[in-house]
Amino acid sequence: MTALLETRGLGRAFGALQAVAGVSLAVEPGEVRAVIGPNGAGKTTLFHLISGLLAPTSGRVLFRGDDVTALPAPARCRRGISRTFQITSIFPELSVLENVRIAVQLRSGGNFRLVGGRATLEASEQRARASLDSLGLLGRAEEAASTLPHGDQRLLEIAMAVAQEPELLLLDEPTQGLSPEDTVATVAVIRQVAREQKLTIILVEHDMDVVFDLADRISVLHFGQLIAEGTPDQIRANADVQRAYLGGAE
Ligand SMILES: Nc1ncnc2c1ncn2[C@@H]1O[C@H](COP(=O)(O)OP(=O)(O)OP(=O)(O)O)[C@@H](O)[C@H]1O
Ligand SMILES: [Mg+2]
Repeated sequence: MTALLETRGLGRAFGALQAVAGVSLAVEPGEVRAVIGPNGAGKTTLFHLISGLLAPTSGRVLFRGDDVTALPAPARCRRGISRTFQITSIFPELSVLENVRIAVQLRSGGNFRLVGGRATLEASEQRARASLDSLGLLGRAEEAASTLPHGDQRLLEIAMAVAQEPELLLLDEPTQGLSPEDTVATVAVIRQVAREQKLTIILVEHDMDVVFDLADRISVLHFGQLIAEGTPDQIRANADVQRAYLGGAE
């Protein structure tokens, strides 16, 4: 089976700092992969490299076997890579629905001139509403995004990414700052959406309950390097991981 996403020797330096160093990983279609590691390990930078927000200083990114290393973020989005951000990134003054509709239009070319006319507009609204529905937010579609509680703003961001109908969804700490109850609810929603839409997911997460609950496989980053990879059971039992991370680096 061809991996949906593959990185080969992927690296990114900031001056003397090697934030991501020679990371090679392969994520299979339908897999939920967690990326864990201490603060500053390079997890968000890795996401920037996969989504195209940052260019690597070494290595390559392959999506469905195609080398996409040179493609900017919007082009990768059109190919089926969508993401959320560690810091919630929504348009607070726009309505919940408008936020999602903009995300849909970004995938279909970033074209706000609405060349397709009414039919295109209606199709994107339809898709936006369906996505809000699957994230449980349809009832708040007309409200300003800023009025949503923090947990729902995190869900809105996932709705925006899901509405782009990606094959690969990158989630950067989706439960950060959530209450224990909201965390449980968010995990349930992510699992359901992943199944319904047959999504492949890569998830950065510090909450180990969430990681062990959601992930099929786990990749462990430490000072930019991949130090371990395996099933939740294998990672739990890995002594290097214990030392680098689980043992109390947090
Ligand atoms: N634009 C940048 N310029 C310079 N250094 C950067 C930049 N972005 C990230 N870094 C550095 O690269 C390293 C990796 O940062 P990154 O944000 O990828 O870590 P992370 O694993 O996501 O951490 P956290 O768990 O805190 O979110 C850190 O030392 C960080 O300070
Ligand atoms: Mg980060």
